[in-house]
Amino acid sequence: MNKTVLVTGGLGFIGSHTVLDLLANDYEVIIIDNLVNSHIEVLDHIATISGKKPLFFEADVRNEEVLNKIFKEYHIDAIIHFAGLKAVGESVKKPTLYYDVNINTTLALLKMMKKYNCHNIIFSSSATVYGESRELPFTENMNVGVGIKNPYGETKYINELLLKDFATSEDDMHVILLRYFNPIGAHKSGLLGEDPKDIPNNLMPYVLKVAVGELDHLTVFGDDYDTPDGTCIRDYIHVLDLAHGHVLALSKILGMKDKCEIYNLGTGKGSSVLEIVHAFNNVNHIKLPYVIGPRREGDAAMSFASIEKARKELGFEPIYTIEDACLDAFNFIKKHVGKE
Ligand code: NAD
Ligand code: UFG
Repeated sequence: MNKTVLVTGGLGFIGSHTVLDLLANDYEVIIIDNLVNSHIEVLDHIATISGKKPLFFEADVRNEEVLNKIFKEYHIDAIIHFAGLKAVGESVKKPTLYYDVNINTTLALLKMMKKYNCHNIIFSSSATVYGESRELPFTENMNVGVGIKNPYGETKYINELLLKDFATSEDDMHVILLRYFNPIGAHKSGLLGEDPKDIPNNLMPYVLKVAVGELDHLTVFGDDYDTPDGTCIRDYIHVLDLAHGHVLALSKILGMKDKCEIYNLGTGKGSSVLEIVHAFNNVNHIKLPYVIGPRREGDAAMSFASIEKARKELGFEPIYTIEDACLDAFNFIKKHVGKE
C-alpha cells in the first residue's frame, strides 16, 4: 500500500514543489496549511501539473482539534514539517510570534506522533544554525547554535534541539533535520514559485521584482568582502533539487534505525551576488539595474555546504544550475504578474 505523508506548509514555496515530487513517487499526500504565506490556487496548480489533487486542510498546525481529526482518520506514515514563519526582519520585530508559531507547530505534531503512533518526522532547518562558524564548507557534525543573529534562526536551532531530544527519549521515533542553504528557482511550468507579498529581503525574489519593473534597482550589499569579486558567496540550490532531497529523505526515514540524522541540502558550490546577477542577465537576455551599497548587518562573507553526507546516505545529487534557476524563476514571475 502507498505510504501516507502529512505535509505541513505544503502550499508554500518549498512545500508545493515537494508535494509534486511526492505525488510523482506515488505517496499519498495530505496537506495542512493556514495560507498565511501562500494561496489556495497553488492546490489547483499542483493538480494541473500532477493530475492528482491531494487532500487539503486549511488550518493552523497549532490547532490540535484539526490535527486529531486528521490523525484519527488517516494513518500517517511520516510528517514533513515545512509550516512556519521565515522572514528574518519580521522575526526581530515580532519575536513572540515567531517562537509561538515555529515552536508550537512542532510541539503539536510531536504530541500527535505519540498519540497516534506516527514514527517519522522530517524538519525544515536552515544553514542559519551554523551561526558564526567560519570553517567552510559547513558539515553536519560542526558545532551549531553559536552567533545566530535573529529570532527566526533561533527557532530553527531550538527546533533541532527539541526534535533530537524527542527522538532520544522515545522508542522507535525517527527524525531527519534538513538544513537548507539558499533555495531559488521555480517549477518549469511557471505555475509554482516564490512571490513574496512584501518587499523581499532575499536576493532572488528581489532580483525578480526588479526584473519585472516592480522595483527599480537591486542594491548589492557590499563589494568589499574577502571573496574573488568582493560580493558575498552563498550556496544557491534549485527548489526542484531541494524538493527531491525530501523524497530521498523520506525513503531513508521510513527504514531508518537511527533516531536522528542531519543532512545539508545545498549544491556544495558557492556563487557570488554578482555571479547570480550575471547569470540572470545572460539566460534572460536582460540587463538588471543594480548599485553597490553598504554591507548588510549580520551577513557572512561566505556560506556553502558540504553535501557529501546527503550524497552518500541519501543518493542526493543536485542536477540544476544557477542558470536553470534564474530562467525558471523569471519564467514564473513573468507569468505570475501577467506580463507575458
Ligand atoms: P513559505 O512561507 O513559502 O511556506 C511556508 C508555508 O507554511 C506557507 O504556505 C504558510 O502559509 C504555511 N504556514 C505558516 N505558518 C503556518 C501555521 N501555523 N499553520 C499552517 N501553515 C502555516 O516558506 P518556504 O520558503 O517554503 O519555507 C518552508 C520551510 O523551510 C520553512 O520552515 C522555512 O523556515 C524553511 N527554510 C526556508 C528557507 C528559504 O530560504 N526559503 C531556507 C531555510 C529554511
Ligand atoms: N543580497 C543583496 N541584495 C539584496 C538581497 C540580498 O546583495 O537585496 C545579498 C546578501 O547580502 C547575501 C546574498 O545576497 O550576500 C543572499 O542573501 P539572502 O537574504 O537571499 O540569503 P541569506 O544567505 O542572507 O539568508 C537566507 C535566509 C536565512 C537562511 C539562509 C540560509 O534569509 O534565514 O538563507 O538558509 F538562514
